[in-house]
Amino acid sequence: MNGLFITIEGPDGAGKSSLVKRLNAAIQKETTRPLVMTREPGGSEIAEEIREIILNPLHTKMDARTEALLLAAGRRQHVVEKIRPALSRGDIVLCDRFVDSSIAYQGQARGIGIEEVKAINEFAIEGLRPDLTIYLDVDAHVGLERIKDKKSNRTQDRLELEEITFHEEVRKGYSKLIEQEPERFSIIDASKDEDYVFNETWAIVQAKINE
Ligand code: TYD
Repeated sequence: MNGLFITIEGPDGAGKSSLVKRLNAAIQKETTRPLVMTREPGGSEIAEEIREIILNPLHTKMDARTEALLLAAGRRQHVVEKIRPALSRGDIVLCDRFVDSSIAYQGQARGIGIEEVKAINEFAIEGLRPDLTIYLDVDAHVGLERIKDKKSNRTQDRLELEEITFHEEVRKGYSKLIEQEPERFSIIDASKDEDYVFNETWAIVQAKINE
């Protein structure tokens, strides 16, 4: 049996973390098929160490291409160590962010260029594509307000500290991707409440699992 590779994408503050937790529980109730929950940046020991370097707020000198390369390097390790083996076993892999994040954040918002970032990621993933990508769509202002509310008790990471215009560009990057590959994406209105976002997403994921 082939594995099923599902990714969750969206700008900061779209509500991915709580959605991923609920999806985890719902998938385990729905099927006996093994589920691997994972995330990027990170997802394996080496990739988590690279994550620390990328997100460290003290690393203000980090060059945009260095950032993109570190993300791709961590992704490579994550794919080889965790995602590919799980998909070969026939597992369901649910991943919080994947290549699309690099295209939106580094390609569009950092201004490196979508094609450039696609190319270094292609080197890292060697053709691996999600079967389904859930995109949580939310206005940059709404997303950033949510982060401020939720995370007032913890320091924000280096990317969350970017200005509003950066986050608007991130959203623009995702829109371009959706235009290029509309069949892979399911777009959810994440300005609505948590229950709405979960129910809409679950209907799509459940159908995919039972295809
Ligand atoms: P994430 O762990 O999803 O943030 P949080 O759970 O704290 O909301 O991602 C951390 C940051 O890294 C986020 O701002 C998005 C950014 N990022 C990129 O810029 N490019 C990438 O390829 C990935 C995977 C994440």
